[in-house]
Amino acid sequence: MLPAAMRTVFLLLAAIPLAVAAGDLAVGAERAETCLGCHGVKGYRNTYPSYYVPKIGGQQAAYLEAALAAYGESRRAHPTMAAQAGRLSEEEIRDLAAFFAAQEPAVRQVGAVQRGDPRAGAERAEECIACHGERGDAPIAPDYPKLAGQHADYLAVTLKRYRSGEIRHDIMNSIAEGLSDREIVDLSAYFAAQEGDLHTVRRGRLSAAP
Ligand code: HEC
Ligand code: HEC
Repeated sequence: MLPAAMRTVFLLLAAIPLAVAAGDLAVGAERAETCLGCHGVKGYRNTYPSYYVPKIGGQQAAYLEAALAAYGESRRAHPTMAAQAGRLSEEEIRDLAAFFAAQEPAVRQVGAVQRGDPRAGAERAEECIACHGERGDAPIAPDYPKLAGQHADYLAVTLKRYRSGEIRHDIMNSIAEGLSDREIVDLSAYFAAQEGDLHTVRRGRLSAAP
């Protein structure tokens, strides 16, 4: 049996790694300025091919970290994001992820849907919600992304890249293998049409408070 003071010290030591792992919101807010040049502009598009820059405000922190690591390590190819993520340390990635994850939208939003049939997508989505949660809004693990309210064209491009293996991720590679072009478009329309926390974090509205 340890004396009470010693037990307190052990408890404090045990708490330190947790505090570090959570990322620093204020530092993340400062770093995020660069990112907002694209992720903070509503309607901003990737050029070739053309699709909306994904919403990252309100996304799961552990997923944001995983995505940034994947760009940095070239498991996910995208010249701009590889350049952005490649020069970030693990700590900077944690701070940025904590910051974007902590942002809340003024109102829950849907994404842009230009094509596809959300109703057909809803039927096909049974398999997906087992991991991404009801309506794609409540993933079952911290490193699984929210899909609800993301832009449909971004979701579709990403699903095609999982299917072709251009983005390497064992789970999503095998899931996407079984999807036709039609199913990809309909599923993307369905998840984009669901209201969610995902939003474009606006410049000048940076907040270090969750
Ligand atoms: C020049 C524009 C630009 C800048 C600056 C930029 N991004 Fe991106 N970001 C993009 C585009 C375009 C994509 C979609 C890339 C793809 O198709 O994989 C993206 C994708 C992402 C994703 C993946 C989202 C998802 O749902 O999988 C994350 C995370 C991300 N960016 C974080 C950041 C962070 C953090 C910064 C700042 C350090 C940043 N980005 C700076 C354009 C930019
Ligand atoms: C077994 C769990 C699981 C199932 C089932 C699953 N996913 Fe995923 N999904 C994941 C994980 C984990 C990731 C993160 C992959 C990564 O880090 O690249 C992901 C990522 C994604 C992304 C990328 C999101 C973004 O912001 O870039 C899309 C789109 C997606 N899934 C759609 C689907 C669809 C559509 C289905 C159903 C056909 C589905 N998923 C089924 C676990 C799953």
